[in-house]
Amino acid sequence: MSIETDGIAYARGRFVALDEPVIPIDDRAHQFGDGIYEVIRVYRGKPHLLEAHIQRFDRSAKAIGLTLDRSLDGLVALIEEAIVRSQLQESQVYFQLSRGIARRDHAYPAVPTHLSLTVRPVDDSKFTAVRERGQRVILSPDIRWQLCFIKSLNLLPNVMTKQKALDAGVNDALFVRDGFITEGTSSNVAMIKDGMLITHPATEHILHGITRASVLSMCADLGIAVEEKRFTPTELMTADEIFTMSTLTEIAPIIEIDGQAVGLKALSPGSVVRRLQSAYTATLPL
Ligand code: PDD
Repeated sequence: MSIETDGIAYARGRFVALDEPVIPIDDRAHQFGDGIYEVIRVYRGKPHLLEAHIQRFDRSAKAIGLTLDRSLDGLVALIEEAIVRSQLQESQVYFQLSRGIARRDHAYPAVPTHLSLTVRPVDDSKFTAVRERGQRVILSPDIRWQLCFIKSLNLLPNVMTKQKALDAGVNDALFVRDGFITEGTSSNVAMIKDGMLITHPATEHILHGITRASVLSMCADLGIAVEEKRFTPTELMTADEIFTMSTLTEIAPIIEIDGQAVGLKALSPGSVVRRLQSAYTATLPL
């Protein structure tokens, strides 16, 4: 496959081929997961909700004391250039900021941070399937740390829990902390009960999802009442509709939890999930 179809990368201050070995072993992203990241979906060559992702990136960076080597406008310009260079219309931009490249030592080093980025094709067909037919999940203890609003590179609890779900033969898992559902391994979660959308408040225990924020503003336009409050697994099992929200999967129903059928109403035409899906599609760049 040519570089154009595979995508493009940027690291150590220059554009490189995806497989070019440019990052030294001493990048703190490897050794400590010491950094933060973002994922943006590009539709028809245009990055969706770019400004919101940039602002969250900035919040995550500040929360762990990282300083970007350029202005936020400079970051936007880099992302836009990378999308053009990739020659991809439908893609995902991944970018991360590590604390830098320095000999391994727990203390913060006095070195510049290291920004790296990839633009890669996105295969929407697997996401289309879950958006249409729904996904099966299990519940699993939220084994993550206290600062889940930071989009940290430390995803070990997320990947372990995702694999646990796949090994159990389902699509994903929802985290449960102190008896309440927090979010999915890489998505936020909401339920519809008696016409009202209920989702975990944007506290330090969840990622403040860009798709979640977009859904909440669509609810205001569609006249769907929203309550940001915690809910228990028992409440979830009796919801009318349940769905996840994330950049790549967008809005996708959940139809089974721990082997029990739930929220099947979501699959019917005219359900809240179907209305939100159409409203979301209408917001995408043309
Ligand atoms: N994940 N919660 C978690 C733990 C996530 O990792 C993500 C996104 C979300 C949804 O956030 P957003 O709507 O801003 O994408 C919620 C990205 C896509 C990832 O890690 O690939």
